[in-house]
Amino acid sequence: MNALLDRLHNFILPLMHGEDHVCACTCGRHQAYHVIPYHGAEGTVDTRENYFISNTMTQQEIDVITGLLLGVCISWFLLWLDSVWCSWLKYKRADQQNGVGFLSRMLKFRNTKDSSRQAVRYAQTAAAPAAQPRIKKFQVYRWDPDTPGDKPRMQTYEIDLNTCGPMVLDALIKIKNEMDSTLTFRRSCREGICGSCAMNINGGNTLACLNKIDTNISKPTKIYPLPHMYVVKDLVPDMSNFYAQYKSIEPYLKKKDETMEGKKQYLQSVEDRQKLDGLYECILCACCSTSCPSYWWNGDKYLGPAVLMQAYRWMIDSRDEFTEERLSKLQDPFSLYRCHTIMNCTKTCPKGLNPGKAIAEIKKMMATYKEKKAAAV
Ligand code: SF4
Ligand code: SF4
Ligand code: FES
Repeated sequence: MNALLDRLHNFILPLMHGEDHVCACTCGRHQAYHVIPYHGAEGTVDTRENYFISNTMTQQEIDVITGLLLGVCISWFLLWLDSVWCSWLKYKRADQQNGVGFLSRMLKFRNTKDSSRQAVRYAQTAAAPAAQPRIKKFQVYRWDPDTPGDKPRMQTYEIDLNTCGPMVLDALIKIKNEMDSTLTFRRSCREGICGSCAMNINGGNTLACLNKIDTNISKPTKIYPLPHMYVVKDLVPDMSNFYAQYKSIEPYLKKKDETMEGKKQYLQSVEDRQKLDGLYECILCACCSTSCPSYWWNGDKYLGPAVLMQAYRWMIDSRDEFTEERLSKLQDPFSLYRCHTIMNCTKTCPKGLNPGKAIAEIKKMMATYKEKKAAAV
Protein backbone atom coordinates (compact mmCIF):
# COMPACT_ATOMS: atom_id res chain seq x y z
CA MET A 1 0.00 0.00 0.00
CA ASN A 2 2.87 2.35 0.90
CA ALA A 3 4.49 1.71 -2.45
CA LEU A 4 1.21 2.45 -4.18
CA LEU A 5 0.75 5.73 -2.33
CA ASP A 6 4.30 6.66 -3.10
CA ARG A 7 3.79 6.09 -6.79
CA LEU A 8 0.61 8.14 -6.76
CA HIS A 9 2.42 10.78 -4.80
CA ASN A 10 5.14 11.00 -7.36
CA PHE A 11 3.09 10.76 -10.54
CA ILE A 12 0.00 12.81 -9.74
CA LEU A 13 0.85 15.30 -7.09
CA PRO A 14 3.74 16.99 -8.87
CA LEU A 15 1.26 17.86 -11.60
CA MET A 16 -1.09 19.35 -9.03
CA HIS A 17 1.67 21.36 -7.49
CA GLY A 18 2.69 22.95 -10.76
CA GLU A 19 5.99 23.14 -12.54
CA ASP A 20 7.90 24.85 -9.76
CA HIS A 21 7.78 21.72 -7.67
CA VAL A 22 8.39 19.29 -10.44
CA CYS A 23 11.75 17.63 -10.33
CA ALA A 24 14.49 19.24 -12.31
CA CYS A 25 15.69 15.89 -13.51
CA THR A 26 17.42 16.36 -16.87
CA CYS A 27 17.31 12.86 -18.16
CA GLY A 28 15.48 13.81 -21.37
CA ARG A 29 12.74 11.57 -22.70
CA HIS A 30 12.54 9.39 -19.61
CA GLN A 31 11.79 12.37 -17.45
CA ALA A 32 8.11 11.59 -17.05
CA TYR A 33 8.97 8.27 -15.50
CA HIS A 34 11.44 9.54 -13.07
CA VAL A 35 10.38 10.30 -9.63
CA ILE A 36 10.59 13.37 -7.73
CA PRO A 37 11.60 13.77 -4.18
CA TYR A 38 10.28 17.19 -3.18
CA HIS A 39 9.02 19.15 -0.20
CA GLY A 40 12.35 18.37 1.24
CA ALA A 41 11.40 14.73 1.53
CA GLU A 42 14.22 12.32 1.35
CA GLY A 43 14.40 10.27 -1.80
CA THR A 44 15.11 6.59 -1.76
CA VAL A 45 15.94 4.27 -4.59
CA ASP A 46 13.64 1.49 -5.73
CA THR A 47 16.34 -0.81 -6.99
CA ARG A 48 13.93 -3.15 -8.80
CA GLU A 49 12.67 -0.48 -11.14
CA ASN A 50 15.38 2.06 -10.64
CA TYR A 51 12.94 4.76 -9.58
CA PHE A 52 13.49 7.39 -6.98
CA ILE A 53 10.57 7.32 -4.68
CA SER A 54 9.54 9.65 -1.96
CA ASN A 55 8.74 8.14 1.36
CA THR A 56 6.72 10.91 2.89
CA MET A 57 3.48 12.67 1.97
CA THR A 58 2.04 15.81 3.41
CA GLN A 59 -1.17 15.55 5.36
CA GLN A 60 -2.88 17.72 2.72
CA GLU A 61 -1.98 15.25 -0.03
CA ILE A 62 -3.23 12.30 1.96
CA ASP A 63 -6.49 14.20 2.52
CA VAL A 64 -6.92 14.76 -1.21
CA ILE A 65 -6.40 11.08 -2.06
CA THR A 66 -8.68 9.91 0.73
CA GLY A 67 -11.35 12.39 -0.42
CA LEU A 68 -11.17 11.11 -4.00
CA LEU A 69 -11.46 7.45 -2.95
CA LEU A 70 -14.33 8.26 -0.61
CA GLY A 71 -16.14 10.16 -3.41
CA VAL A 72 -15.89 7.20 -5.79
CA CYS A 73 -17.20 4.80 -3.13
CA ILE A 74 -20.17 7.05 -2.28
CA SER A 75 -21.06 7.43 -5.99
CA TRP A 76 -21.03 3.67 -6.48
CA PHE A 77 -23.19 3.16 -3.44
CA LEU A 78 -25.74 5.77 -4.60
CA LEU A 79 -25.94 4.20 -8.06
CA TRP A 80 -26.54 0.78 -6.55
CA LEU A 81 -29.21 2.21 -4.24
CA ASP A 82 -30.90 3.89 -7.21
CA SER A 83 -30.98 0.65 -9.23
CA VAL A 84 -32.49 -1.28 -6.31
CA TRP A 85 -35.11 1.43 -5.76
CA CYS A 86 -36.12 1.51 -9.45
CA SER A 87 -36.37 -2.27 -9.54
CA TRP A 88 -38.49 -2.34 -6.41
CA LEU A 89 -40.94 0.16 -7.90
CA LYS A 90 -41.26 -1.88 -11.10
CA TYR A 91 -41.73 -5.14 -9.25
CA LYS A 92 -44.41 -3.50 -7.22
CA ARG A 93 -46.22 -2.56 -10.42
CA ALA A 94 -45.78 -6.10 -11.79
CA ASP A 95 -47.09 -7.45 -8.46
CA GLN A 96 -50.32 -5.56 -8.91
CA GLN A 97 -50.79 -7.07 -12.35
CA ASN A 98 -49.99 -10.70 -11.82
CA GLY A 99 -49.23 -11.20 -8.17
CA VAL A 100 -45.51 -11.85 -8.63
CA GLY A 101 -44.01 -11.41 -5.16
CA PHE A 102 -41.18 -8.93 -4.81
CA LEU A 103 -39.41 -10.94 -2.14
CA SER A 104 -39.70 -14.16 -4.12
CA ARG A 105 -37.91 -12.39 -6.97
CA MET A 106 -35.23 -10.80 -4.82
CA LEU A 107 -32.86 -13.70 -5.43
CA LYS A 108 -32.74 -12.76 -9.09
CA PHE A 109 -31.42 -9.29 -8.25
CA ARG A 110 -27.88 -8.89 -9.32
CA ASN A 111 -27.59 -5.25 -8.37
CA THR A 112 -27.58 -4.20 -11.97
CA LYS A 113 -30.30 -2.25 -13.67
CA ASP A 114 -30.21 -4.44 -16.75
CA SER A 115 -30.88 -7.78 -15.13
CA SER A 116 -33.74 -6.43 -13.02
CA ARG A 117 -35.23 -4.58 -15.99
CA GLN A 118 -35.17 -7.78 -18.01
CA ALA A 119 -36.89 -9.67 -15.20
CA VAL A 120 -39.58 -6.98 -15.00
CA ARG A 121 -40.09 -7.14 -18.75
CA TYR A 122 -40.67 -10.92 -18.53
CA ALA A 123 -43.16 -10.41 -15.72
CA GLN A 124 -45.03 -7.74 -17.66
CA THR A 125 -45.08 -9.74 -20.88
CA ALA A 126 -46.50 -12.72 -19.05
CA ALA A 127 -49.12 -10.44 -17.56
CA ALA A 128 -50.12 -8.80 -20.89
CA PRO A 129 -53.45 -10.04 -22.20
CA ALA A 130 -53.30 -11.73 -25.65
CA ALA A 131 -53.73 -9.00 -28.29
CA GLN A 132 -56.93 -9.02 -30.35
CA PRO A 133 -56.16 -10.17 -33.91
CA ARG A 134 -56.27 -7.33 -36.45
CA ILE A 135 -57.09 -9.05 -39.70
CA LYS A 136 -56.38 -6.94 -42.76
CA LYS A 137 -57.25 -7.88 -46.32
CA PHE A 138 -54.72 -7.46 -49.11
CA GLN A 139 -56.03 -7.70 -52.66
CA VAL A 140 -53.14 -8.46 -54.97
CA TYR A 141 -53.00 -8.49 -58.78
CA ARG A 142 -52.17 -11.97 -60.04
CA TRP A 143 -51.34 -13.16 -63.52
CA ASP A 144 -49.18 -16.08 -64.53
CA PRO A 145 -48.17 -16.24 -68.21
CA ASP A 146 -47.06 -19.86 -67.74
CA THR A 147 -50.56 -21.02 -66.89
CA PRO A 148 -52.40 -21.39 -70.21
CA GLY A 149 -55.60 -19.35 -70.31
CA ASP A 150 -54.84 -17.59 -67.02
CA LYS A 151 -56.49 -14.19 -66.93
CA PRO A 152 -55.46 -11.31 -64.68
CA ARG A 153 -57.40 -11.38 -61.40
CA MET A 154 -57.26 -10.00 -57.88
CA GLN A 155 -56.47 -12.47 -55.10
CA THR A 156 -57.31 -11.71 -51.49
CA TYR A 157 -55.03 -12.59 -48.59
CA GLU A 158 -55.82 -12.02 -44.93
CA ILE A 159 -53.04 -11.07 -42.57
CA ASP A 160 -53.06 -10.46 -38.82
CA LEU A 161 -51.29 -7.12 -38.51
CA ASN A 162 -50.10 -8.11 -35.02
CA THR A 163 -47.81 -10.67 -36.58
CA CYS A 164 -46.66 -8.60 -39.55
CA GLY A 165 -44.10 -5.82 -40.04
CA PRO A 166 -45.34 -2.28 -40.62
CA MET A 167 -44.69 -1.91 -44.37
CA VAL A 168 -46.57 -3.24 -47.37
CA LEU A 169 -43.42 -5.09 -48.42
CA ASP A 170 -43.51 -6.91 -45.05
CA ALA A 171 -47.05 -8.06 -45.83
CA LEU A 172 -46.03 -9.28 -49.30
CA ILE A 173 -43.05 -11.16 -47.91
CA LYS A 174 -45.28 -12.71 -45.25
CA ILE A 175 -47.77 -13.83 -47.90
CA LYS A 176 -44.99 -15.35 -49.98
CA ASN A 177 -43.28 -17.05 -47.04
CA GLU A 178 -46.31 -18.33 -45.17
CA MET A 179 -49.33 -18.41 -47.47
CA ASP A 180 -48.60 -18.53 -51.17
CA SER A 181 -45.11 -19.05 -52.48
CA THR A 182 -46.27 -18.49 -56.08
CA LEU A 183 -46.80 -14.75 -55.51
CA THR A 184 -44.12 -12.92 -57.49
CA PHE A 185 -42.69 -9.45 -56.89
CA ARG A 186 -39.32 -7.74 -56.97
CA ARG A 187 -37.53 -6.48 -53.88
CA SER A 188 -33.98 -6.26 -52.67
CA CYS A 189 -32.84 -3.63 -50.20
CA ARG A 190 -36.11 -3.10 -48.28
CA GLU A 191 -35.02 0.45 -47.46
CA GLY A 192 -35.84 2.61 -50.47
CA ILE A 193 -32.45 2.36 -52.15
CA CYS A 194 -32.66 -0.21 -54.94
CA GLY A 195 -36.00 0.89 -56.42
CA SER A 196 -37.03 -2.64 -57.29
CA CYS A 197 -40.20 -2.88 -55.16
CA ALA A 198 -41.98 -0.08 -57.05
CA MET A 199 -45.68 -0.90 -57.48
CA ASN A 200 -49.10 0.67 -57.38
CA ILE A 201 -50.51 0.59 -53.85
CA ASN A 202 -54.00 1.89 -53.19
CA GLY A 203 -53.94 3.85 -56.44
CA GLY A 204 -50.53 5.51 -56.09
CA ASN A 205 -47.13 4.47 -57.42
CA THR A 206 -44.67 4.02 -54.61
CA LEU A 207 -42.08 1.73 -53.05
CA ALA A 208 -43.64 -1.13 -51.08
CA CYS A 209 -40.78 -1.01 -48.59
CA LEU A 210 -41.39 2.66 -47.75
CA ASN A 211 -45.19 2.45 -47.77
CA LYS A 212 -46.81 1.85 -44.39
CA ILE A 213 -49.75 -0.53 -44.20
CA ASP A 214 -52.98 1.37 -43.68
CA THR A 215 -54.07 0.12 -40.25
CA ASN A 216 -57.75 0.71 -41.00
CA ILE A 217 -58.75 -2.97 -41.16
CA SER A 218 -62.17 -2.27 -42.66
CA LYS A 219 -60.49 -1.16 -45.92
CA PRO A 220 -58.55 -3.66 -48.04
CA THR A 221 -55.16 -2.67 -49.42
CA LYS A 222 -55.06 -3.02 -53.20
CA ILE A 223 -51.77 -3.78 -54.89
CA TYR A 224 -51.11 -3.69 -58.64
CA PRO A 225 -47.97 -3.65 -60.76
CA LEU A 226 -46.76 -0.26 -62.07
CA PRO A 227 -49.47 0.96 -64.43
CA HIS A 228 -49.28 0.90 -68.23
CA MET A 229 -46.33 -1.44 -68.31
CA TYR A 230 -46.22 -4.91 -69.78
CA VAL A 231 -46.42 -7.45 -66.97
CA VAL A 232 -43.92 -10.28 -66.69
CA LYS A 233 -45.78 -11.98 -63.85
CA ASP A 234 -47.97 -10.81 -60.93
CA LEU A 235 -46.41 -7.58 -59.63
CA VAL A 236 -43.34 -7.67 -61.86
CA PRO A 237 -43.42 -5.15 -64.73
CA ASP A 238 -41.28 -5.38 -67.84
CA MET A 239 -38.71 -2.58 -67.49
CA SER A 240 -36.86 -3.20 -70.78
CA ASN A 241 -38.17 -0.08 -72.53
CA PHE A 242 -37.47 2.09 -69.48
CA TYR A 243 -33.85 0.88 -69.27
CA ALA A 244 -33.33 1.23 -73.03
CA GLN A 245 -34.50 4.85 -72.79
CA TYR A 246 -32.15 5.43 -69.87
CA LYS A 247 -29.28 4.01 -71.90
CA SER A 248 -30.14 6.31 -74.82
CA ILE A 249 -29.31 9.47 -72.85
CA GLU A 250 -25.76 8.20 -72.17
CA PRO A 251 -25.92 8.63 -68.39
CA TYR A 252 -22.22 9.07 -67.73
CA LEU A 253 -19.54 11.76 -67.84
CA LYS A 254 -18.40 12.60 -71.36
CA LYS A 255 -15.27 14.59 -72.26
CA LYS A 256 -14.19 15.93 -75.65
CA ASP A 257 -10.58 15.13 -74.86
CA GLU A 258 -10.34 11.68 -73.39
CA THR A 259 -6.56 11.49 -73.16
CA MET A 260 -6.65 12.34 -69.46
CA GLU A 261 -9.21 9.68 -68.67
CA GLY A 262 -8.11 7.63 -65.67
CA LYS A 263 -5.02 9.84 -65.20
CA LYS A 264 -6.44 12.72 -63.25
CA GLN A 265 -9.47 13.46 -61.15
CA TYR A 266 -12.09 15.74 -62.67
CA LEU A 267 -12.84 18.19 -59.88
CA GLN A 268 -15.77 20.55 -59.50
CA SER A 269 -16.52 23.43 -57.16
CA VAL A 270 -18.78 23.02 -54.13
CA GLU A 271 -21.36 25.27 -55.83
CA ASP A 272 -21.33 23.16 -59.00
CA ARG A 273 -21.68 20.00 -56.97
CA GLN A 274 -24.68 21.46 -55.15
CA LYS A 275 -26.49 21.90 -58.46
CA LEU A 276 -26.76 18.10 -58.64
CA ASP A 277 -28.64 17.84 -55.34
CA GLY A 278 -32.19 16.65 -55.86
CA LEU A 279 -31.15 14.93 -59.09
CA TYR A 280 -28.48 12.38 -58.27
CA GLU A 281 -30.65 10.78 -55.56
CA CYS A 282 -32.99 9.26 -58.15
CA ILE A 283 -33.09 5.46 -57.77
CA LEU A 284 -34.74 4.84 -61.16
CA CYS A 285 -37.74 3.12 -59.64
CA ALA A 286 -39.93 4.39 -62.52
CA CYS A 287 -42.78 5.40 -60.19
CA CYS A 288 -42.81 8.84 -61.81
CA SER A 289 -42.66 7.73 -65.43
CA THR A 290 -45.43 5.19 -64.96
CA SER A 291 -47.67 7.77 -63.30
CA CYS A 292 -47.32 10.19 -66.22
CA PRO A 293 -50.28 10.19 -68.63
CA SER A 294 -48.02 11.30 -71.49
CA TYR A 295 -45.76 8.33 -70.82
CA TRP A 296 -48.77 6.00 -70.77
CA TRP A 297 -49.78 7.02 -74.26
CA ASN A 298 -46.36 7.63 -75.84
CA GLY A 299 -44.03 5.48 -73.76
CA ASP A 300 -42.17 4.32 -76.86
CA LYS A 301 -41.17 7.82 -77.99
CA TYR A 302 -41.49 10.10 -74.96
CA LEU A 303 -38.57 9.55 -72.57
CA GLY A 304 -40.60 10.15 -69.42
CA PRO A 305 -39.74 12.11 -66.27
CA ALA A 306 -37.22 9.72 -64.69
CA VAL A 307 -35.01 9.51 -67.77
CA LEU A 308 -35.36 13.21 -68.59
CA MET A 309 -34.33 14.14 -65.06
CA GLN A 310 -31.17 12.06 -65.48
CA ALA A 311 -30.54 13.68 -68.89
CA TYR A 312 -30.74 17.06 -67.12
CA ARG A 313 -28.44 15.84 -64.34
CA TRP A 314 -25.67 15.24 -66.92
CA MET A 315 -26.43 18.41 -68.90
CA ILE A 316 -25.71 20.62 -65.88
CA ASP A 317 -22.75 18.65 -64.57
CA SER A 318 -19.88 21.18 -64.76
CA ARG A 319 -17.44 18.40 -65.72
CA ASP A 320 -19.45 17.16 -68.70
CA GLU A 321 -18.64 18.67 -72.12
CA PHE A 322 -21.53 17.37 -74.19
CA THR A 323 -24.39 19.60 -73.04
CA GLU A 324 -25.22 20.83 -76.54
CA GLU A 325 -25.18 17.34 -78.00
CA ARG A 326 -27.38 16.09 -75.19
CA LEU A 327 -29.86 18.91 -75.87
CA SER A 328 -29.85 18.34 -79.61
CA LYS A 329 -30.77 14.69 -79.07
CA LEU A 330 -34.02 15.80 -77.47
CA GLN A 331 -34.91 18.02 -80.42
CA ASP A 332 -38.03 16.27 -81.66
CA PRO A 333 -41.73 16.53 -80.88
CA PHE A 334 -41.76 13.49 -78.58
CA SER A 335 -38.62 12.88 -76.51
CA LEU A 336 -39.09 15.97 -74.33
CA TYR A 337 -42.08 17.96 -75.50
CA ARG A 338 -44.72 15.35 -74.63
CA CYS A 339 -44.49 16.66 -71.07
CA HIS A 340 -47.43 18.92 -70.38
CA THR A 341 -46.45 19.82 -66.82
CA ILE A 342 -49.25 17.85 -65.21
CA MET A 343 -46.81 17.09 -62.35
CA ASN A 344 -48.08 13.61 -61.49
CA CYS A 345 -44.42 12.61 -61.53
CA THR A 346 -43.38 15.00 -58.77
CA LYS A 347 -46.43 14.14 -56.70
CA THR A 348 -45.70 10.44 -56.72
CA CYS A 349 -41.90 10.30 -56.35
CA PRO A 350 -41.25 8.24 -53.19
CA LYS A 351 -37.85 9.92 -52.79
CA GLY A 352 -39.36 13.41 -52.76
CA LEU A 353 -37.63 14.54 -55.97
CA ASN A 354 -39.01 16.93 -58.56
CA PRO A 355 -38.67 15.52 -62.10
CA GLY A 356 -41.31 17.95 -63.38
CA LYS A 357 -39.04 20.88 -62.50
CA ALA A 358 -36.03 19.22 -64.15
CA ILE A 359 -38.04 18.85 -67.37
CA ALA A 360 -39.04 22.53 -67.22
CA GLU A 361 -35.33 23.43 -66.82
CA ILE A 362 -34.43 21.38 -69.90
CA LYS A 363 -37.10 23.24 -71.85
CA LYS A 364 -35.54 26.55 -70.76
CA MET A 365 -32.06 25.36 -71.76
CA MET A 366 -33.49 24.20 -75.04
CA ALA A 367 -34.79 27.72 -75.79
CA THR A 368 -31.34 29.31 -75.32
CA TYR A 369 -29.72 26.48 -77.20
CA LYS A 370 -32.06 27.06 -80.15
CA GLU A 371 -31.35 30.80 -80.12
CA LYS A 372 -27.61 30.14 -80.09
CA LYS A 373 -27.94 27.74 -82.97
CA ALA A 374 -30.04 30.19 -85.00
CA ALA A 375 -27.47 32.96 -84.38
CA ALA A 376 -24.67 30.69 -85.55
CA VAL A 377 -26.34 30.01 -88.92
S1 SF4 B 1 -37.54 10.63 -59.88
FE1 SF4 B 1 -38.37 9.61 -58.07
S2 SF4 B 1 -40.04 8.38 -58.85
FE2 SF4 B 1 -38.83 8.95 -60.58
S3 SF4 B 1 -37.46 7.25 -60.89
FE3 SF4 B 1 -36.40 8.75 -59.63
S4 SF4 B 1 -36.79 8.14 -57.54
FE4 SF4 B 1 -38.27 7.05 -58.80
S1 SF4 C 1 -44.96 16.90 -65.46
FE1 SF4 C 1 -44.52 16.00 -67.42
S2 SF4 C 1 -43.40 14.20 -66.92
FE2 SF4 C 1 -44.41 14.83 -65.05
S3 SF4 C 1 -46.30 13.71 -65.07
FE3 SF4 C 1 -46.66 15.60 -66.03
S4 SF4 C 1 -46.42 15.23 -68.18
FE4 SF4 C 1 -45.50 13.58 -67.12
S1 FES D 1 -36.81 -3.05 -51.80
FE1 FES D 1 -35.36 -1.63 -52.54
S2 FES D 1 -36.51 0.15 -52.80
FE2 FES D 1 -37.93 -1.21 -51.94
